[in-house]
Amino acid sequence: MTPPSSKRAALEAFWMPFTANRQFKSAPRMLARAEGMHYWTPEGRQVLDGCAGLWCVNAGHGRREITEAVATQIATMDYAPPFQMGHPLAFELANALIEIAPKGIDHVFFTNSGSEAVDTALKIAIAWHRVRGDAARTRLIGRERGYHGVGFGGISVGGMVNNRKYFGALLPGVDHIRHTHDPARNLYSRGLPAHGAEFADDLERLVALHDASTIAAVIVEPIAGSTGVLLPPRGYLERLRAICTKHGILLIFDEVITGFGRTGSAFAAQEFGVVPDMMTCAKGLTNGAIPMGSVLVRREIYDAFMTGPEQAVELFHGYTYSAHPVACAAGLATQRIYREGLFDHARAMAPYWENAVHSLKGRRHVVDLRCYGLVAGIELEPRAGLAGARGYEALVAAFEKGLLMRTTGDTIALSPPLIIERADIDRIFETLAAVIDSLT
Ligand SMILES: Cc1ncc(COP(=O)(O)O)c(C=O)c1O
Repeated sequence: MTPPSSKRAALEAFWMPFTANRQFKSAPRMLARAEGMHYWTPEGRQVLDGCAGLWCVNAGHGRREITEAVATQIATMDYAPPFQMGHPLAFELANALIEIAPKGIDHVFFTNSGSEAVDTALKIAIAWHRVRGDAARTRLIGRERGYHGVGFGGISVGGMVNNRKYFGALLPGVDHIRHTHDPARNLYSRGLPAHGAEFADDLERLVALHDASTIAAVIVEPIAGSTGVLLPPRGYLERLRAICTKHGILLIFDEVITGFGRTGSAFAAQEFGVVPDMMTCAKGLTNGAIPMGSVLVRREIYDAFMTGPEQAVELFHGYTYSAHPVACAAGLATQRIYREGLFDHARAMAPYWENAVHSLKGRRHVVDLRCYGLVAGIELEPRAGLAGARGYEALVAAFEKGLLMRTTGDTIALSPPLIIERADIDRIFETLAAVIDSLT
C-alpha cells in the first residue's frame, strides 16, 4: 500500500456519512478517546459530550462492565449464525428488553441498526395483515419531518426532504400525515406543548382518501429528534392511538432516540402513557458500544405468524448479524447498568436541565426552545438565504470551545449521557451561551 502523500490525502478514501466531506477534510474535527461525560481530541483537548455521541451513549463512555462483557464474549464465541440456530445471550437479552417494555409488548426481533429496525417493523406490519388474511393492507403512513433512518422503507415513510429527493420514487403506497410543529401557538413551551392534539386527526383525512382497508401501519417518533426536537402536543399520541385502533391500523413508535431513559422512562410509550403495537429501538440498546437494533412487538402480532406447519419458517426476514453474540453481550451489560437507577437519575436531572435550556430565552438569534427529559432543541434564526449556516457555525464554535453537540439545520440538538450532573449542565449552557453570542 502506498502511503497517502499528505495529511489531507490520508482523509480522502473515507466517504463520510451525513458530512460535508470537503469542508471536513480541510478542517477536520477528530475524536480519539472517551470516558464518562467526555471525549478527547488526538491532541488531548477535552470535549464535553452534549449529545451522547449520537443519542446513543446513555450510560456515559467507557463503561468497564460493557467493555469486559464484550471482551469475554468475543473470546468465548465470536459469532453464531442466527438462522435455525441460537445462543443463550440472544434469549436473555430479549427477556431483559421485554421486562422494561410496556405491558403487552413481549417479543423481540434483532437487527443491527435503527434503519434496519424500521424496515423490519414495516415489513412485519404488512406481513401481519397478510397472514391474517387482510392482504390488501399494504399502505404505510409516515409523518412530515419524521426521521426513520436511511433504508428505502425508512426514507419512504420519513419526511426529511434531503433524505428523500435524491433517491427516486421510493416505496409505492406511502403517505404522510402532517407534522406537529406549531410555533405560532407553542413557542417556548415547557413540558409538552399545549396545542395540536388535533393534528392526529390528519390520519382520518388519509383514511378517507385511501380507505382503512388499504392501510397497514402508521409510524411516528414520539419525539422527533432529527428534525429539530419536535415534541408531541398534549393528547396527540393518545388520539393517534385511538384512530389507529378504530381503523385496525398498526401503530409503530420509532423509539430509536427516545428509548432507554431519554425521557426519564424506559420508553416514551410509558412516559406518555400510549402503547403502540411495535417499537423500534437501537442506539442506547448497547450504549452505542456495538451496533444493534431491535423491534419490540405485541404478542398478538407474533402469535399471528405462529400458525401453519411447525417446520415452516414463519417470517422470511433476518440479518447475518441479527442477535450477534458480541452485541448481545454489550446489550445485556448495558441493560444491567440501566437497572441501577439511571433512568431515575435522568428524570431527577430533567427540571434542572429544563431551567438551563430556558435560560437561553431572549438571547440573540434564539427563536424557540423545546425540551423534555434530557433532550433539548435550541432553534436559531436562519441567516437570510443561508439556511443551516448559523447552525453549522455554532457546531464548529462549540467544538472549539470544548462542547460536542448536534445541529439539524439551524436547530441545536442536545441529548447528553444520562449520567450528567448539574455541573455538566452548567458547563454545557455556559459554553452554549458564549457560542450563541459569538455568532454573527
Ligand atoms: C428515530 C430514528 N429512527 C431511526 C434511526 C436510524 O438509526 P441508525 O442510524 O442506527 O440506522 C435514527 C437515527 O438517528 C433515529 O433517530
